[in-house]
Amino acid sequence: MSKDWNPQHHQRFEKERNRPPAELLARIADIQAQRITDLGCGSGSSTALLRQAWPQAEITVDSSPAMLAAAQEKLPDCRFVLQDFHDWQPQMQQDIVFANASLQWSDTPQTLLPHLIRQLNQGGVLAAQMPDNLDEPSHFLMRDTAALPKWKNLTQATDSRPPVWDVDRYYDLLAAQGCEVDV
Ligand SMILES: C[S@@+](CC[C@H](N)C(=O)[O-])C[C@H]1O[C@@H](n2cnc3c(N)ncnc32)[C@H](O)[C@@H]1O
Repeated sequence: MSKDWNPQHHQRFEKERNRPPAELLARIADIQAQRITDLGCGSGSSTALLRQAWPQAEITVDSSPAMLAAAQEKLPDCRFVLQDFHDWQPQMQQDIVFANASLQWSDTPQTLLPHLIRQLNQGGVLAAQMPDNLDEPSHFLMRDTAALPKWKNLTQATDSRPPVWDVDRYYDLLAAQGCEVDV
């Protein structure tokens, strides 16, 4: 089974999925920005919201070829970078790094977040939203279903991401980087 994502499946509930990035964007909507990156852009839904707010936003980064291909189709004039965000280092420092529902996939947030902060301009913003949903009924049901003998060969059927931290741990990590933190 491929490790890649399925953009069609991901876009099935696009309207509902777009609510968190729209709310995140509303928190930073008054920022003047020239250089913006959508980190873990997926199939481009969050990028489309960013483009409405800042038409010059152009860079998107994702580690999934299928998701990037879908994003490219949706937004042909953006620049797409196939890369793991742990290694991402843009040529120019960024005004906004936007990461909706992507950073929770990192096994190493303690090094990833300081790395991302280093990619920001003075006064730049890292805007991130991470779903804390592993204990929601949807995820219980996925794990129960995946445990059925019928699916025993599907090693990727279960969640493979770590739980998100308590919010004060993110606060402390970001404050230690000299950030003004709004959680
Ligand atoms: C739930 S989707 C969110 C997509 C988009 N930000 C949105 O709001 O619609 C998560 C995306 O994060 C990407 N992702 C996960 N781990 C990544 C990594 N280490 N580097 C880059 N992208 C990653 C996945 O490929 C996937 O497209």
